[in-house]
Parts: sequence; structure tokens; C-alpha cells
Amino acid sequence: MNDDRMKILGIESSCDDTAAAVIDNTLLLSNIIAGQQVHKDYGGVVPELASRAHQQNIVPVIDAALKKAGVTKEELCAIAFTRGPGLMGSLLVGVSFAKAMSLALNIPLIEVNHLQAHILAHFIHTPNEEYRCPSFPFLCLTVSGGHTQIVLVKGHLQMEIIGQTQDDAAGEAFDKAAKIMGLPYPGGPLVDKYAKEGNHDAFTFPKPKIQGLDFSFSGLKTSFLYLIRDETKKDSEFVSKRQNDLCASFQYSVVNILIDKLKLASEQTGIKEIAIAGGVSANSGLRDALKVTGDKLGWNIFIPKMAYCTDNAAMIAITGYFKYLNKEFVDIDVTPVTRYPI
Ligand code: KG4
Ligand code: ZN
Repeated sequence: MNDDRMKILGIESSCDDTAAAVIDNTLLLSNIIAGQQVHKDYGGVVPELASRAHQQNIVPVIDAALKKAGVTKEELCAIAFTRGPGLMGSLLVGVSFAKAMSLALNIPLIEVNHLQAHILAHFIHTPNEEYRCPSFPFLCLTVSGGHTQIVLVKGHLQMEIIGQTQDDAAGEAFDKAAKIMGLPYPGGPLVDKYAKEGNHDAFTFPKPKIQGLDFSFSGLKTSFLYLIRDETKKDSEFVSKRQNDLCASFQYSVVNILIDKLKLASEQTGIKEIAIAGGVSANSGLRDALKVTGDKLGWNIFIPKMAYCTDNAAMIAITGYFKYLNKEFVDIDVTPVTRYPI
């Protein structure tokens, strides 16, 4: 094996996507993902159904990632996997598979924190594309279905949370608002889609009164729920008639909350190198607002490619690469963890 080229397989199974990717140092060779449609009608991920789908998907997904990369199992020099945070039954599928593969191939095992991986997705190098990554220190707003944090990133593996949600995550708020409107799970992408056709000033919601760099979304969700409850009493077709305006106004409020805190974090730290990560970083309102604010305040902004916003294994593989350089390996008795602070 050529010592300075490292081919690492990344495995992600923390929630409802089964994913595998192969990376050659920082260069991504393949990135395969199998989503799960079974949760659509339930308003959220059903853990038992998720674990079963992971079991069905994991072998074909890993197989496809190796084939697409043109890499054999024997050429791999490590297996990186998501250890947490996530759903226990889902994580167990990926962790067990990673352990078995590392034992069979006699190569190191690398555990990855899913939230750290969302941030390190900014360092993925794709063939034939410009390589542009943030320099240290930078601030990253990580916004996903389970987390909303502002992270001070001092090095690839040196991160500190300087602000986080005290209740719901931003993605959860999008999903709950969508559910209130009768939209299927995950509702975030649909709210984004309908918001494009609506007026964001149609409805206003109170801003959360939360100090410092922390967030709160539960008040917004409650006032959205009350608005719909009260208006539906007057007109039973209120939601269908005003869906676009409701989505635009709700999204506008979430984005304002996020951007306000990011501005405060930049002011407090003096850092103008600003990134976003996680599923909600796919939101077009957030992406646009970040560009406008960044231009105004002289920020150097980093917005991930769509494929690396939501859950994927490329981010697990790149994190595996940085940990490989540090020789941060784990023993075969490693277990998944549902909560895993960075
Ligand atoms: O990072 P992710 O794929 O999974 C977690 O680690 O949670 O994030 C999923 C979340 C879901 O709540 C989903 O509704 C939200 O990201 N999301 C969006 C958009 N795309 C995904 N929310 C708003 N606008 C989008 N375009
Ligand atoms: Zn995620």
C-alpha cells in the first residue's frame, strides 16, 4: 500500500439514511445513500422501521460504494463509522457492520461523531471541482433535525460549542410546522419549496427572548400552531388557501433567529470565517440570507454542496481521514452512543 494515499470507507446509519462512501485522502471517490420512505406517513422517524431498513440496505450500499470508487476491500486502510448521536437501533447496524469488516480485513476502526462530521464535510474534495475550505478558527452553524449549535472550530478535531438550542432543533421546528399543516415527514424541504411562492411578511411571529448565543424554537412552533388553530375555526380551508404564505413566514422567522445569533457570535469572537452545516443548511432561505449578511458584514462564507448538507457517509469518511492522521483508532469493544457531545 502507498503510505501517503489512504483509502477509507465511511459508514453512516444514525437515523433514517443508510450511507457509505470511499475517500482517498480528502478526495471523494464515491458517496452512496439509501433513504427510507417508510416514515413518510408517521410524521417522524419510526426507530424500529429504521433499524430494519438499515439491515436491508447496508450490504448493497457498501457494495455499491466500493464498486463506484473502483476500490477493493483489500485496498482499504481503515473503516470509519458513525458512533453517535442517533437512534440506538440504527447506529447498531452500522457499528456492528464496521466492526465485522475491520476484523475480517484486519484494518483499524475509527469512530466518528456525526455532528463533527457535518462540519468536516466542508473539507471534502470532489474531482474536477474547485477546492475551497474554511481556515481556522471559523464558526459553524450546525442545523439539523436533532441539533442546532454554533460551534467554534479551532482545528479539524478541535471544536467547542458556544451556543445551542434550549428546546427544539431548527429542523425539528420545520418538521413540526409541516406536520401541523398536514405535510408528510420530513417537512423541511416541503416548507422550503412552498415558501418560494409565498409572502414572508404575511404572518409575523414573536421572537424568542433568549439571551446570548443560545436558541429557542418552541415558542415559534406554539404560536404557529395557535395561528392555524384560530384561523381554521373561521375558515376550515385556511391552511390550503394560505400554505405558501404560512411556509414563507415560518421559514423567514427561523432564518432570522439563526442569522441574528450568528451575527452575535461573529461580533463576540471577532471571527468572520463563517460556515453552515447539517440538513437545514440545504434551506434556500438560510443560504440566501447568509449570502446577503455575509456580503454586508464582510464575512467569508462557506455553504456546503446540497449532497453534503443532509446525512451522508462522505462526511464520515473525511472525518475518518483526519482521525487516521492522528492515529485515533478504537478497539473492537466500542459501542454506539445515542448522545454524543462534540
Ligand atoms: O442533518 P440531517 O439530514 O439529519 C440529522 O442529523 O438530523 O437533517 C435533517 C433535517 C430534517 O429536519 C429536515 O426537515 C431538514 O433537515 N431539512 C430542511 C431542508 N432539507 C432538510 N429543512 C429546511 N429546508 C430544507 N431545504
Ligand atoms: Zn445529520
